[in-house]
Amino acid sequence: MRHSILASLFLTPVASAALAQNAAPALDAQQTLGRQLLNQHCAICHLKPQLGATTYGPPLGVESLGGDEAAMRQVIGEGTQRMPGFKYKFDAAGIDAIVAYIKTVAAPPAPAKQ
Ligand code: HEC
Repeated sequence: MRHSILASLFLTPVASAALAQNAAPALDAQQTLGRQLLNQHCAICHLKPQLGATTYGPPLGVESLGGDEAAMRQVIGEGTQRMPGFKYKFDAAGIDAIVAYIKTVAAPPAPAKQ
């Protein structure tokens, strides 16, 4: 009896932490690195700082550039007229990691009808 009460005290927080993790897909080491690099170097143009904010660059996700990984590497490395290139900032493994992470991000939902 005493043991089961103790066990439930200790297990409850672990169980809720596991539930929280289920909300987002588990990332492997490469995708985790990619998420970190994206948050550090791309967020300013591609991630919303708050609800309702607009971003300078388009939202990124598995559907970006038709899901074409080579095209993603090209844009990230070379940049565009409106986006800086990152080929001197990251080696190929860094760019691959960012692409691997972008592929885990669901396509953004369609905008609500006005
Ligand atoms: C200075 C702002 C800026 C930064 C910083 C930036 N981007 Fe962009 N990015 C843009 C803009 C703007 C576009 C749209 C292309 C255009 O208009 O030239 C874009 C387009 C893209 C696209 C193509 C998306 C599509 O749907 O066409 C990808 C992929 C991308 N960026 C990835 C990245 C990644 C990864 C980083 C960080 C390593 C990054 N960007 C940093 C502004 C930025």
